[in-house]
Amino acid sequence: MATLEIRDLHVSVGDGEETKEILRGVDLTVKAGETHAIMGPNGSGKSTLAYAIAGHPKYTITSGSVTLDGEDVLEMSVDERARAGLFLAMQYPVEVPGVSVSNFLRSAVTAVRGEAPKLREFSKEMKAAMDALSIDPAFAQRSLNEGFSGGEKKRHEILQLEMLKPKIAVLDETDSGLDVDALKVVSEGVNRFSGTGDTGVLLITHYTRILRYVKPDFVHVFAGGRVVAQGGPELAEELENEGYEKYVKAGV
Ligand SMILES: Nc1ncnc2c1ncn2[C@@H]1O[C@H](COP(=O)(O)OP(=O)(O)O)[C@@H](O)[C@H]1O
Ligand SMILES: [Mg+2]
Repeated sequence: MATLEIRDLHVSVGDGEETKEILRGVDLTVKAGETHAIMGPNGSGKSTLAYAIAGHPKYTITSGSVTLDGEDVLEMSVDERARAGLFLAMQYPVEVPGVSVSNFLRSAVTAVRGEAPKLREFSKEMKAAMDALSIDPAFAQRSLNEGFSGGEKKRHEILQLEMLKPKIAVLDETDSGLDVDALKVVSEGVNRFSGTGDTGVLLITHYTRILRYVKPDFVHVFAGGRVVAQGGPELAEELENEGYEKYVKAGV
């Protein structure tokens, strides 16, 4: 069973005198079939954790480890991380005019599987995935992320999950002001995925709202660059009622 293990992870941004430590010892284990929610106030370092796992060059790992099934993720290139079964959906996906959703997906599938799928089989597979997610067929010909609404971005994110079938998916939904439509798309997608038992989901979110639709097995409260409390779904309810205040103090 696939396991992502994060141990005592410390991450800084900036260089020289401007260096700032953002993550201050994160410990977290996510297994296939589990859904984890990371929740915390703005600026607590949630997106930094996602970027660090993704291998974003702006974030420097100063100590600690990230492994997937015992393999050192931090030693891997961004491509290798995808091939190893990690999927990372970013809060602000880049727009790529001239590259269609279909072309992008085919490249991504090729990168992850190590060989290009036959065009006809790929088209069939993509159509089936889009049908399952109630995505209009014309969407496949749109330019990647260009002018996508919040809901379309999320649909595309879940479509990628469906096609790439990662072992561990990290979804950073923080602060993105998801409308109800987008919220439902993400929730349904996450529920489908966690239901298969093959994918572990790490859902990063500021608002407790999404947790009305997604029931995480584990909730981790993030403050001051580390996990300050853990629990089950009841913790999400507590946060919805009482907010983050008491945890912000604990994280300082
Ligand atoms: N590239 C960066 N350069 C400088 N500061 C950054 C950068 N990324 C994040 N930070 C700082 O790190 C802190 C945590 O940010 P972030 O991880 O985005 O928090 P969250 O996602 O929990 O809102 C913030 O104080 C933010 O300003
Ligand atoms: Mg964020």
